Amino acid sequence: MTASPKPATNLAVNADRLWASIEETARIGATAKGGLRRLALSAEDAEVRAWFKTACEAAGCTVAIDSLGNMFARRPGRNAALPPIAIGSHLDTQPTGGRFDGVIGVLAGLEVLRLLQEAGIETEAPIEVINWTNEEGARFAPAMLASGTFAGVFSAEYAYSRTDRDGVRFDTALDSIGARGEGLGHALSAHFELHIEQGPILEAEARTIGVVTGVQSIRWYEATLIGSDGHAGATPMRLRRDALLGTARVIEAVHRLARAHAPDAVGTVGLLENRPNSRNVVPGEVFFTIDLRHPDDAVLAEMDASLRDALAEIATADGLELSLEQTWESPAVHFDAACIARVRQAAAAFGYPSRDLVSGAGHDSAYIARVAPTTMVFVPCAGGLSHNEAESATREDVAAGANVLLHAVLATDAALTG
Ligand code: GLV
Ligand code: MN
Ligand code: MN
Repeated sequence: MTASPKPATNLAVNADRLWASIEETARIGATAKGGLRRLALSAEDAEVRAWFKTACEAAGCTVAIDSLGNMFARRPGRNAALPPIAIGSHLDTQPTGGRFDGVIGVLAGLEVLRLLQEAGIETEAPIEVINWTNEEGARFAPAMLASGTFAGVFSAEYAYSRTDRDGVRFDTALDSIGARGEGLGHALSAHFELHIEQGPILEAEARTIGVVTGVQSIRWYEATLIGSDGHAGATPMRLRRDALLGTARVIEAVHRLARAHAPDAVGTVGLLENRPNSRNVVPGEVFFTIDLRHPDDAVLAEMDASLRDALAEIATADGLELSLEQTWESPAVHFDAACIARVRQAAAAFGYPSRDLVSGAGHDSAYIARVAPTTMVFVPCAGGLSHNEAESATREDVAAGANVLLHAVLATDAALTG
């Protein structure tokens, strides 16, 4: 393998311009607590998509939209036969999301486009900045739905048929904001994604850049416990079949299961619908989700078996009917060695302290890694806080991440022609 060329450290992004675009788009879906609510394919998502298209066109790009609503802003290269080098992430957020998760990855890409245009730099390959639809999985499960479909993991029919908790289908939502384009899937020379770490390590170690070597394994489940509705005053405790009580025991079991595989395992019950949800009715039915993760697929498989045993035991003990379905699995991902080396080298060239990390969160890059050489760049976030309106990162760190992204992309371009 040939060494990547040393980045020209005098070519750097405009930190103020990048920060200004973060602030400008943070008005779209802004929450009272300083975060964002920009659920996939909502009116707010439509507004930020329109903003992104206009900004990319002003930076000299054409913007194409595929049949899943993924947006591709392309800056031509000298050689139109080369597949584009992509910079991608997402502009959708959690219901009480922060201003950085996903957003900085797309806006840093935009800043790279603006800088290349301003500096009159021609690349050999086209550069493509991508806004992937519905990364979060907050409105339509699973997460990374449209990048996964682009990568051939899901069929378009499967993606279209996903429904939100109100029963609205993905394709209906896509059409309702006019976000459906044409075509699906094209070759990429590489894919890079800048993201906040969403964990505490970089901040604790005072490092600016996380060189992301992979993404941990994830499984999502949907479960329903069914007991019997009953009168809160007249049903004796010994006769109750309380589905919410069973769910409480499940939440405790998921917590213990993850703790039993410390320090790397995590387990979460994050969504719960208690029925009929009336203060003087013993709850007869509860729908809930479970999210289990571990860096090692084999350990996650063991956790899956323990989960099934624990839930069956609880259901039997409490006289409840259980339905449990694994709805999604995203196996552990190992990113491309050459892309990782270019990120590491770009960080070193700028003198940014860095370390290798495995991502705890899922990312579009996890699926794009199946179809193109891929890696990610992490920057610190305050207190490791994410999926929280108080999510925070500094202008300097975000700019540092964008500089690493820029030079990793340029080194990839050089290697393509090398
Ligand atoms: C996406 O944010 C995930 O990791 O669940
Ligand atoms: Mn994200
Ligand atoms: Mn997220």
